[in-house]
Amino acid sequence: MNQTLADMRRDYTREGLSEAQAPDEPFALFRQWFDDAVRTEQPPVEPNAMTLATVDADSRPHCRVLLLKGLDERGFTFFSNYQSAKGEQLQARPFAAMTFFWPSLERQVRIEGRVERVSEAESNAYFQVRPLGSRIGAWASPQSRVIADRAELESLLMETERRFLNQAPTCPPHWGGYRLLPERIEFWQGRASRLHDRLDYRCLDGHWSRQRLAP
Ligand SMILES: Cc1cc2nc3c(=O)[nH]c(=O)nc-3n(C[C@H](O)[C@H](O)[C@H](O)COP(=O)(O)O)c2cc1C
Repeated sequence: MNQTLADMRRDYTREGLSEAQAPDEPFALFRQWFDDAVRTEQPPVEPNAMTLATVDADSRPHCRVLLLKGLDERGFTFFSNYQSAKGEQLQARPFAAMTFFWPSLERQVRIEGRVERVSEAESNAYFQVRPLGSRIGAWASPQSRVIADRAELESLLMETERRFLNQAPTCPPHWGGYRLLPERIEFWQGRASRLHDRLDYRCLDGHWSRQRLAP
């Protein structure tokens, strides 16, 4: 097993990332890379899937996969349960890091910054475009809480379905969006022999600067 793991490696040779190709601010480059990922990645890879890392009040890190659901000049938006473990962590420590990995493109993007809740209007608007099953699920599932077994979840679901038999589910008060306001965005393009390209954008007082990092 250890031998097999030690032998597992791929060389990355697809393309490079030069300063000449990179704009002065990172959003345009993220959009370009994201569009490339939408075009190039094949199912089951979800181009908007990312790993979100948070820390708890004891400074212990936690990470999990989430879907990016919005991007504008303010930042990167995702949706979850405000009472979940991540919700409690973001309440205590409103900072997070997200990582996108697009394997076909041999690219990684790392984003770090402060996190705030989006407006109720934004959460409501997104909630309403979710499929009915997901809207019911947001009411039914006490995300991150211990439950006895699958039967308990099914019974919570049935109870919630009965409740919303004659009315459309509105956005629960414990559910909604977060926006990560980026202070750092690093673009990583895999290169041969582990000599990768890394362009690192940092935001200070609203101005982005860029530097190259050693791989
Ligand atoms: C591909 C994928 C997409 C996911 N998208 C979301 C999401 O958008 N929002 C969410 O709350 N959980 C999502 N999850 C589930 C989370 O990974 C996690 O299990 C859940 O949010 C509870 O995390 P927590 O206990 O740390 O709060 C997704 C999982 C996977 C594998």
